[in-house]
Amino acid sequence: MAAGAAADADDGPLVVYDERGTAAVAARLAAGLTAGDVIHLVGPLGAGKTTFVRHACHALGVVEDVTSPTFAVAHLYTAVSGVRVAHLDLYRSAGLTTEELVDLDAYLSDDVVLFVEWPDRGRGMLPPATRTVTVAIAGEHGRTIVVA
Ligand SMILES: Nc1ncnc2c1ncn2[C@@H]1O[C@H](COP(=O)(O)OP(=O)(O)OP(=O)(O)O)[C@@H](O)[C@H]1O
Ligand SMILES: [Mg+2]
Repeated sequence: MAAGAAADADDGPLVVYDERGTAAVAARLAAGLTAGDVIHLVGPLGAGKTTFVRHACHALGVVEDVTSPTFAVAHLYTAVSGVRVAHLDLYRSAGLTTEELVDLDAYLSDDVVLFVEWPDRGRGMLPPATRTVTVAIAGEHGRTIVVA
């Protein structure tokens, strides 16, 4: 499918040619999200998971900058609509500490839209994904994105 074209959830792999294409796919996913959704982001380092989440958050009405929470583990935003949006990055959390787990509780509530990068590292501690986004690198700006 061409860059920027709308993506239905059960479409096959989508090829985008630049970040605008990723933004379009993210916005289309966001349009179907509601509180309680848990979106797992899968793909190698630098694939564009955070970039996808940033565009999805903005489409949901988050006005703040959306940056990688690698060091903070999680960020929580409130969109203009009032919906709460959490972004977790478990890359550095091969084993979560008790403190981190307690902190995570706030994000695992069913009135939050939750995005999780590196969900494998939180296996058993996270709610199951309602949606999974898999991003693969296809050239400098090209990406293949599967939304399932
Ligand atoms: N089509 C595209 N979609 C997304 N990102 C792109 C695209 N083209 C280029 N990029 C660039 O690729 C980089 C992706 O970085 P990003 O932090 O989003 O990756 P990540 O998958 O979250 O990495 P990490 O595993 O380290 O968290 C950014 O610099 C972004 O600008
Ligand atoms: Mg990231």
